[in-house]
Amino acid sequence: MPEKFLDKVYDVSGMEETRALYDDWAASYDTELGSAGYATPARTAKALAAHMGDRSASVLDFGCGTGLSGAALRAAGLTTIDGVDVSDEMLAEAQGKGAYRCLDRIGFDDDLSDRRGRYAAVAAIGVIGAGAAPLAVFDRLMALLEPGGLFAFSFNDHTLENRSYEAHVSEWTDTGAARLLVSDYGPHLPARDLNSRVYVLERK
Ligand SMILES: C[S@@+](CC[C@H](N)C(=O)[O-])C[C@H]1O[C@@H](n2cnc3c(N)ncnc32)[C@H](O)[C@@H]1O
Repeated sequence: MPEKFLDKVYDVSGMEETRALYDDWAASYDTELGSAGYATPARTAKALAAHMGDRSASVLDFGCGTGLSGAALRAAGLTTIDGVDVSDEMLAEAQGKGAYRCLDRIGFDDDLSDRRGRYAAVAAIGVIGAGAAPLAVFDRLMALLEPGGLFAFSFNDHTLENRSYEAHVSEWTDTGAARLLVSDYGPHLPARDLNSRVYVLERK
């Protein structure tokens, strides 16, 4: 019986433990997520594409993993996608998808400041929250966008249990620093009875 990483990913903590888990998971990630009905990439990608005026504009797929999110962004009609991730093994899998203009390994504390203003949109699909990147990443990604830029992301049920994630989104929208374009609760991993909320924000 193959190892089930979904049984342990939500308990992972710390940078090296996180990287090691995704390195080990890379070869079986697509099969395991596929058999659980992973629906969040297609939902998020469609929500983002519906608000992109120019579908050839550059999109950063942050925490691109094996490229399921990049493939979903492409299937939604977006054509210029760069991927970044902290796991070499996940990136090696993403290479084979043919969905990306370029793929780069980044560090956990990388603020990506050299990429500021380069993207019409940033996507963080299945990346922020339990089992992956901390909430601090949220503001780093918003900082990459010019006014009018779009940020598409998802929080799964495990992440939504911690109210600070949704509260952080509200801070951005309540202060007028961002406009909420999409907030949609729906299937994440149906085989595990897990849902996610998909958001699209516009940077003001
Ligand atoms: C659940 S996977 C999602 C991958 C892909 N977006 C998808 O939808 O299949 C989470 C990814 O986030 C990456 N990750 C975890 N922490 C990160 C961080 N602090 N910065 C960037 N990527 C991170 C992991 O290496 C992993 O590839």
